[in-house]
Amino acid sequence: MIEIALSSETDFEGWRDAARRLCAAGVSPADVSWRTPGDPPSLLGGDSEPSAAPGAAVRAPKRFVDLARKAACLRDHERFVRLYALLVKLQERPHLLDDPADPDAAWLWAGDKAIRRDVHKMHAFVRFKEAGESAGGRERFAAWFEPEHRILELAAPFFMRRFAGMDWVIVTPDGTAAWGGATLAFGPPGTRGDVPADDAVEEQWRTYFKSIFNPARLKVSAMTAEMPKKYWKNLPEASLIPDLIATAETRNRAMQAAAPTQPSRLSQRLIERRAAQAKSDAEIPATLDEARAQAERCERCPLHCNASQTVFGEGPGDARLMIVGEQPGDAEDLAGRPFVGPAGQVLDQGLKEAGIERTHTYLTNAVKHFKYERRGKRRIHQRPTSAEIDHCRWWLDLERELVKPELTVALGASAARGLLGETVKIADVRGRVIEAGAGPALVTVHPSYLLRLPDPVRKAEEEARFVEELRLAHGVLAA
Ligand code: URA
Repeated sequence: MIEIALSSETDFEGWRDAARRLCAAGVSPADVSWRTPGDPPSLLGGDSEPSAAPGAAVRAPKRFVDLARKAACLRDHERFVRLYALLVKLQERPHLLDDPADPDAAWLWAGDKAIRRDVHKMHAFVRFKEAGESAGGRERFAAWFEPEHRILELAAPFFMRRFAGMDWVIVTPDGTAAWGGATLAFGPPGTRGDVPADDAVEEQWRTYFKSIFNPARLKVSAMTAEMPKKYWKNLPEASLIPDLIATAETRNRAMQAAAPTQPSRLSQRLIERRAAQAKSDAEIPATLDEARAQAERCERCPLHCNASQTVFGEGPGDARLMIVGEQPGDAEDLAGRPFVGPAGQVLDQGLKEAGIERTHTYLTNAVKHFKYERRGKRRIHQRPTSAEIDHCRWWLDLERELVKPELTVALGASAARGLLGETVKIADVRGRVIEAGAGPALVTVHPSYLLRLPDPVRKAEEEARFVEELRLAHGVLAA
């Protein structure tokens, strides 16, 4: 038996490296034991790994890799065993994931559903409490949460986007996630005692819940399906539920006795339409199409007031390369598509010379609305402020989360700020692959910078360097 020791309960990368080696060497799933730090120590020394047959290649669709990454978070002792069994079977049956009769494939899909549900519940049920001030004088909040699966790292980026302006820590039995305004850091497990006991925010939750609880609409089974009882112990408002249910009937009768006159059918329809819109805008889009539709109505900052439309990213939803510009220009604002004006032509030329297909690339901008100043009939581009870029980062982060590019190229300083969340000097970072939150990034100059260079020699040099940096991006993907 070959023993593989993984470094954590969710060590997907460790599993992937070992699984690739073992599969290339033709090792049967029955001959591998996957061990995590939570397993008791093994009494037997494991067998050594055989070497791979020369030229042996291991193949797995990107879909499998994405699903497997989530499955590694399942609280299922067999998760790594089953993932390896799937990888081995995929070598012979590349369409295995579409076979509902295969028990391992069915397990993988069910796991995906369970993880997505658990992440969704964590997003809905984390309740922050005041925890004093952090060193920089920013308000600090803390929450205790017990997810069903080990999903902290999957769920935490949502809180980073939603609560970017405050410092917070989420403590769970599997680990902690902490945000201090710049980076999201993960630490060791904690206990409920690490979070303040009761506070004014909890009372606000109870008041809010009481005010939205409608006894006339009470359906206990639907309510407990939405808000399963296992989460109640950490929800301040849950203590109200038994009493609200018990008194619903009486309060409902009292409400009917005092019923106000009904609004007209037209205003009722308008109210419902507005409520449906608000509800869908409050939901985090799960696909690029949903994100694009929601972004069309974006009013997160005043830039939408003057722009003709939102210019959302475009390109394949599974692109390996994402390119981020600053903001749409005049031509893009009218066309509703990124990089179709003069800067787009410079970019297209650079991509061509670097051997990158634009149609295989997801193109977007740090800011999704055109910011300009009107001079006569002309609309003159104005640089977005850091605050505008930070506001719009919500969309860029979401695009990165949905597309999951292997590499993101930032064109210029605004794009770099959108990716990194802080201002950097292009000269300090350009031309190297660096870590940028959700994945690696490469920073280069913006095509408009090349258009503006007056000296032809300098311009030729900078254009060559730009192409070189795009080529580097291409090379990173090829590797
Ligand atoms: N400049 C950008 O940064 N993005 C565009 O889409 C067009 C010009």
